[in-house]
Amino acid sequence: GAELEAVRERIKQLLKEKDAVLVAHYYVDGELQRLAEDTGGCVSDSLDMARFGHEHPASTLVVAGVRFMGETAKILSPEKRVLMPTLEAECSLDLGCPTDQFNAFCDEHPDRTVVVYSNTSAEVKARADYVVTSSIALKLAEHLKAQGKKLLWAPDKHLGDYIRRQTGADVVLWDGACVVHDEFKAQALRDLKAEHPEAAVLVHPESPAAVIALADVVGSTTQLVRAAAELPHKTLIVATDSGIFYKMHQAAPDKTLIEAPTGGHSATCRSCAHCPWMAMNGLHNLLSTLETGANEVHVEEAVRVKALRSTQRMLDFAR
Ligand code: 13P
Ligand code: SF4
Repeated sequence: GAELEAVRERIKQLLKEKDAVLVAHYYVDGELQRLAEDTGGCVSDSLDMARFGHEHPASTLVVAGVRFMGETAKILSPEKRVLMPTLEAECSLDLGCPTDQFNAFCDEHPDRTVVVYSNTSAEVKARADYVVTSSIALKLAEHLKAQGKKLLWAPDKHLGDYIRRQTGADVVLWDGACVVHDEFKAQALRDLKAEHPEAAVLVHPESPAAVIALADVVGSTTQLVRAAAELPHKTLIVATDSGIFYKMHQAAPDKTLIEAPTGGHSATCRSCAHCPWMAMNGLHNLLSTLETGANEVHVEEAVRVKALRSTQRMLDFAR
């Protein structure tokens, strides 16, 4: 109602006053995605968020997503102030890859090129040779394999296993998973496909192998949104966080979008696949961080400089 409209207007005004731009991930609330669009910010996947924030002239980046996204922005743009609606928004991949254990794992495999997913802490990135996101994971693995490199892949075992199957690269995997994508169920998806034989299946590669095996398209969030628009199919079954439906409906307004089934929920449940940490971002905490400057992201300089090497390689490779 009127109160929400006032909050939206106040946020728009503060973004201007504070020379700030809103950088949002597809999985956050549609309200925030709309605000980012309306104010010249961006709504995108984790790679494009990193690139956009780095290239944008604003002196403050407000990152609506999870902590690693704020940290990546700070690693790339130390001169900018990076704020987040909350600093409590974690990621199960990041949490499941503590620095000490990760460093010990790397020490056990000194002959391997260390590739880490962007969904990691700055400390883990500091130890890595390359950072990747899902949109370039396959290409980078192919590139490194062609150079004869053996890989250590962390932390997402499903993504790592997917790139191993696709490229035939020699890969050692960290045992981590995304709490959202790990829940998609192959048998239930097969049943749903049988009900909708005309549908195409779109799957994010953080999903289990048996789910990926049923996909017509496997890709990052941006790649899935693009596929939704470009595919000739009128019905799409989508295995990724339900936050994506805001953008997917925009990109493919004439299509029927169906959520892929997760464990323990019905196939029609609207938000069974939704990241609890992404959901912590809202209009009210966004407003309060803009008003108070609270929730600023800091990365220790010695760590940042090391993490920049592997993170910059990600941007250079993606060019
Ligand atoms: P992408 O947006 O890079 O596909 O990553 C998905 C994700 O899990 C972010 O939390
Ligand atoms: Fe992490 Fe999964 Fe949430 Fe993305 S959706 S932030 S990978 S837990």
